[in-house]
Amino acid sequence: MAPENILVCVAWPYANGDLHVGHVAGAYLPADIFARYHRLKGNRVVMVSGSDSHGTPIVVRADKEGKTPREVFEHFHGRFLETQKNLGVSYDLFTHTDTHNHRRIGQQMFTRLLQNEYLFKAKQKQLYSETQGKFLPDRLVEGTCPHCGYDKARGDQCDNCGKLLDGTELIDPRSRIDGSTPVVRESEHYFLDLPALREPLLAYLADKDSYWRSTVLDFSRNYAANAEPRAFTRDLTWGIPIPLSDSEGKCIYVWYEALLGYLTATVEWADLAGQPDEWKKFWYEKDVKIYNFIGKDNILFHTVLWQAVLLGMERLGQPWDGADSDKEFNLPYDVPANQYVNLGGQKFSKSLGVSLDVLDLTAKYGADPVRYYLTSIMPEAKDSEWNWNDFVLRNNSELLAKWGNLVQRTLSQIWKNFDQRIPTPGELSEADQALIAQSEAAFETIGATLNAVHLRDALNSAIELATATNQYLDREAPWKTIKTDHARAGTQLYVAARVIDSLSVLLSPFIPFTCEAVRRQLGYTGALYGEQYMEQVGAADDRHDVLRYDAGAARGEWKPSALQPGQPLGGEPKGLVAKIELA
Ligand code: MF3
Ligand code: ZN
Repeated sequence: MAPENILVCVAWPYANGDLHVGHVAGAYLPADIFARYHRLKGNRVVMVSGSDSHGTPIVVRADKEGKTPREVFEHFHGRFLETQKNLGVSYDLFTHTDTHNHRRIGQQMFTRLLQNEYLFKAKQKQLYSETQGKFLPDRLVEGTCPHCGYDKARGDQCDNCGKLLDGTELIDPRSRIDGSTPVVRESEHYFLDLPALREPLLAYLADKDSYWRSTVLDFSRNYAANAEPRAFTRDLTWGIPIPLSDSEGKCIYVWYEALLGYLTATVEWADLAGQPDEWKKFWYEKDVKIYNFIGKDNILFHTVLWQAVLLGMERLGQPWDGADSDKEFNLPYDVPANQYVNLGGQKFSKSLGVSLDVLDLTAKYGADPVRYYLTSIMPEAKDSEWNWNDFVLRNNSELLAKWGNLVQRTLSQIWKNFDQRIPTPGELSEADQALIAQSEAAFETIGATLNAVHLRDALNSAIELATATNQYLDREAPWKTIKTDHARAGTQLYVAARVIDSLSVLLSPFIPFTCEAVRRQLGYTGALYGEQYMEQVGAADDRHDVLRYDAGAARGEWKPSALQPGQPLGGEPKGLVAKIELA
């Protein structure tokens, strides 16, 4: 099969606070598992995201701390890079939205939409704070949701029913800064003409029934069918300024430019790779699939509004210098939105002495125990909950007992009794053949499950194979066989090592660090995955830190083990998964 081209777009975190496990389980980890799988399949993958560095959330934090918005976003951007590197989220590029590249294309997006008449100017009623002497950003207003009656709805969105709101729709509005009651004033803004894009949007949503999550699809269709024009600009200076002389003090609404980040980050990635036109492959050529990994509060932006922008930009020729004039943009193929991981009252564990801050967790346990647990509770169908006891249990009784110990007990026998080399098998029994056949079939079944973005199921199936291998060893007991029949024990251990070899590939999208270590113990010298690294890029006045990934040569390792008898192990087997002790 010809390799596929896959663009993995990951939600851009607001650079106004640290990442916690909910963000990771909601978007970054699923995206990474998916990207790693496709790389192993030999497909061409580019995975992009970055820090959402503009907009009200950053300004609010800066005001509170007496800092500039830039100081705030740079601080958190740095921490995001570190967090995601520690966790092994293998972005081809993780950048941010305050770069020259992003600003340039952002302004051209605005100009293009305006020329194409998908933006129009109108007066907007907005909430104005008389105590502060300025317009109140929607998310700084709280009140009762007109749709569901929830009394803590924010002016931009109701977290209870998920509807997008306008601050002036709130019943009984109050400022979240000082509790005062805002008044309604008019301000002039640009609006995105969603009704004019209704037909193409509905056409886009029309063929998604067979593979979109139905909740996502129903919600999006309903919104597109009834969409009203939406404000595209804001009274704010921290962001991308409107490129018109009469629009001082106004910026592009942060959501639209953050969404555009998927495209601008692909452009930046191509530049950094020294192939400046490569981004076009992913955005124009039709044999590409774009996946957007997000949390449920981001759905409409990624299923309707982003599509509206892409459709609206392309009507009249070239959207910006260097873009092609006669081609249509690719729209997202799938938007596998996750629900939430609830953290409840347990942000910190006293008995473990660690917090849910991801930097803290990975510093203490390394990436894989965190990745393993978060995959096992990934909120694919409904909300789930972080539970410290469960975290410990999953680590000790699954990751360690079923996988770490399986490797350890097999390879240490080989090390001791078979001259530190993979034994040469004799004739295979029915049980031997059955286990090997099961491990070979797993590549098809687990691959299909991963491709359908059912990541929890895929992990469960891989762990089932590990369980079957443990049961095989318990039954065959090579440590007993060795006393009477050295050759048969060698065959048993060969079979186990071969399945472990396959499992080190099957499990690697979920727990890459452990799996790479297992492969080194098996005696392989090449790695499954490439290198992740931080780098400073951009001209002197545009310097910024990014995370990059070097895939190396595509290897297409997603295939059953071809472990060679006689292969020397890569060193004395050591335990790869630590037991987590409660204090
Ligand atoms: N910054 C937003 C959040 O954290 C997500 C933006 S995703 C994007 O909820 F695509 F719009 F960038
Ligand atoms: Zn509501």
